[in-house]
Amino acid sequence: MTVNATLQAMPEWQALETHWASVKDERLRDLFAADPGRAERFAVEAAGLFLDYSKNRIVDETVRLLAALARARGVEARRDAMFAGEKINVSENRAVLHVALRAPRDWSIVVDGEDVIPEVHAVLDRMAAFSDQVRSGGWKGHTGKAIKNVVNIGIGGSHLGPEMAYRALRGFSDDALTFRFVANVDGAAFTEATADLDPHETLFIIASKTFTTLETMTNAAAARAWALAALGDDKAIARHFVALSTNAAAVAEFGIDTANMFGFWDWVGGRYSMDSAIGLSTMIAVGPDNFRSLLEGFHAMDEHFRTAPIERNLPMLMGLLAVWYNDFFGAETVGVMPYSANLARFPAYLQQLQMESNGKHVDLEGRQVGVQTGPVYWGEPGTDAQHSFYQLIHQGTKLIPVDMIGFCAPLSPLADQHDLLMANLFAQAEALAFGKTAEEVAAEGVDPKLVPFRVFEGNRPTSMILADRLTPHALGALVALYEHNAFTQGAIWGIDSFDQWGVELGKVLAKRITPELTATSEPQLAHDSSTNALIRRYRRARAA
Ligand code: F6P
Repeated sequence: MTVNATLQAMPEWQALETHWASVKDERLRDLFAADPGRAERFAVEAAGLFLDYSKNRIVDETVRLLAALARARGVEARRDAMFAGEKINVSENRAVLHVALRAPRDWSIVVDGEDVIPEVHAVLDRMAAFSDQVRSGGWKGHTGKAIKNVVNIGIGGSHLGPEMAYRALRGFSDDALTFRFVANVDGAAFTEATADLDPHETLFIIASKTFTTLETMTNAAAARAWALAALGDDKAIARHFVALSTNAAAVAEFGIDTANMFGFWDWVGGRYSMDSAIGLSTMIAVGPDNFRSLLEGFHAMDEHFRTAPIERNLPMLMGLLAVWYNDFFGAETVGVMPYSANLARFPAYLQQLQMESNGKHVDLEGRQVGVQTGPVYWGEPGTDAQHSFYQLIHQGTKLIPVDMIGFCAPLSPLADQHDLLMANLFAQAEALAFGKTAEEVAAEGVDPKLVPFRVFEGNRPTSMILADRLTPHALGALVALYEHNAFTQGAIWGIDSFDQWGVELGKVLAKRITPELTATSEPQLAHDSSTNALIRRYRRARAA
C-alpha cells in the first residue's frame, strides 16, 4: 500500500521534530521555577470549562508550532466544512453534523438542499412531549399501569452515551423511575437488568441507528418475549416499546409502530449521537428542561470550537497535545481520570468516541498514514484509580499523559468528602509533575538502600479540566470538548474520523461461526487450526 509521507515532510512537522529534540528533556520543575506566569499563560476557559494545561511538557514555542501545524493541515477549513454540512465522512459519503443536533431553533444548516434544523427540533419536541407523559404517569402500559421502569437496549453509541449520561446526571433524575441499560449479547445482561422489574410497568427503548445490530436485535427480541409472556397480547408492544433509529422499515418489521419511533439521520455517527433521539432515556430521566440545558452546553463548546483561534481553542489545544505526545514523544495512550463517581462511565464512553474515530491506518485517499494515529484512551474515576494503577503512572517506565477532570462544587451533601476528593485531584497532578528527588527522599532520613524505591521522577504531564458543578450544561460542554478534540487529531492525521469499517470483519466471521457452534453433525470447519480447535472444544463442553 502506498504510504503517504506528506505529513512528515511538511516543514511544520519537521519544525516540531526539531523542537521536540530540544525540549524533550526539559523538566516541569525547571520550567515552573523559571516562569512564574506559566500557569496563567497555559490556561483557557470556555463554555464553563477551565483548562489548565501548564503541567504539560511544552513551552510557548510548542504551542506556536502545533498551531502552525494545525493551520497547515487545514484543521480550521475542515471544521468549517463540517459545520457547513459538507460530506467530510468520505468513505461513507456523508455529512457529519452532530453539531446540528444542538443548534438553536433559529439556525440553518443545509444538507442536500434541505435545512436540517427544523427536523432536529421537531424530533426534540416529540421527545419532550413523550418524556413528559412518561414522567407524569400519563403514558400508561397495556394494562393501565403507569411506567416505572425504563430499559434502554442498544450497544456502542446507542448505549455508552445514554448510560454514561444517566450516571453523570443521576442527581437531576426522577427518582420515581428506574433505569436500566442492556448492551451485551450475553443473556446475563438482559436477565439481570429485568429480573426485578414488573413487565406491566416497564418501557423498552430499542436504540439502534441501523436497527440491524445483532446484539440489540437479539436483546430486543428477548424483551418482546419477556413482555408478551406477562402481557399476553401483541397490542401491548405499542405501549411498552419505542424505537430510536434511522431505519423506519426495520422498526416496523420488528413490530414497533413507527408512531412510537424517534428518528435521526445518517449524518449522526453512532458515537456522536447521545444528544439525538438516542438521548431519549436521558431526557426521560432528567426532564426536557435539563436535556435542553445539556444541549446548550454542547452548543456553547461548539461555538467556542468554531470561532476561537487555535491558540485559545480548548478542544484544538487538547487535540494538539494528544498529537504532541502520540507522534513526537511516542506515548501510546492517554489516561482520562474524572474525579467524580458520577462520571464512572465517562472513560468507557470516551473509548468509543476516540478510538472508533481515530483508530485508522489509512488517510482520506486510502493511503497508509505514515505516522502513528489514534492513541489508546483509557481511565477510571479518581480516587479509585489511585489505589489501582497510578503506581505505574508515577513510577513506571512509560510516559502516560493524563487528562484530569474535577468539579468545584459537590453534588452530594457530604461536602467535606468533596474537599478530600479535590485535594487528591490537585495532589496527584502536583506529584506527577514535580515528583520527589533522591535528595528530598534522603533528607527525610530514609535508609539509603531504600531511596531509589521512593524517588518520584516527576515530569509526568497532566491537563486539568475544571468546571463548577457536574450539571447537564457542564456535561454537554465536556462531551463536545472531547468530540472536537478527536476531530482535531483526525484532521491533523488526515484520516476519516467518522467511519468505522474496522468493526465489520469480526461481525461477519461471528455470523459464520454461530451455526457451527450448534450444528449436530460434525461441521466442516474451514478455519485455521486454532479457531477449529476452539470451536470443537466449545461444542464438546456444550453437549456435555
Ligand atoms: O459496531 C460498531 C457500531 O456500528 C458503532 O459504531 C455503533 O455505535 C454501534 O455499532 C451500534 O450501532 P447501531 O446504533 O446501528 O445499533
